[in-house]
Amino acid sequence: MKVAIGCDHAGVALKNEITPILKELAVDWEDVGTKTEESVDYPDFGEKVSELVSNGKMERGILICGTGIGMSIVANKFPGVRAALCSEAFSATMSRLHNDANLLVLPGRIIDGKTAAEIVKVWFTTPFEGGRHQRRLDKIKAIESRLCK
Ligand code: RB5
Repeated sequence: MKVAIGCDHAGVALKNEITPILKELAVDWEDVGTKTEESVDYPDFGEKVSELVSNGKMERGILICGTGIGMSIVANKFPGVRAALCSEAFSATMSRLHNDANLLVLPGRIIDGKTAAEIVKVWFTTPFEGGRHQRRLDKIKAIESRLCK
């Protein structure tokens, strides 16, 4: 699975903590930056990852900022992106089972590396349930098509 990962300065430390987990899960990731703790603007990196997921060049994405809120706002503006901000593993599991989330957002200033590792593991190993949840995703797609006209 091809995955784009990006963050702002507030997400660099957590990003570095989860890359060994991605390796363990045999995820093929591409880091679009930022790579240092020098202050940057989260929309710039949120856009890079979200665009790659939206246009299908990457199957999934991971974005990290301080609270995860800014990255979530950016990501969910992109057609076809279903971004889930998760601070614990239960939400991450449900975001896959019910929402078929294709972009995981993590709050770098709120959770520690151990929690992030649990989230990442379940997020990559939990399948979408389909069924009635697919019907709901179809409705989201219809809203998107109407608004993007
Ligand atoms: C950066 O200071 C901070 O605003 C950003 O990482 C994020 O939390 C925005 O939502």
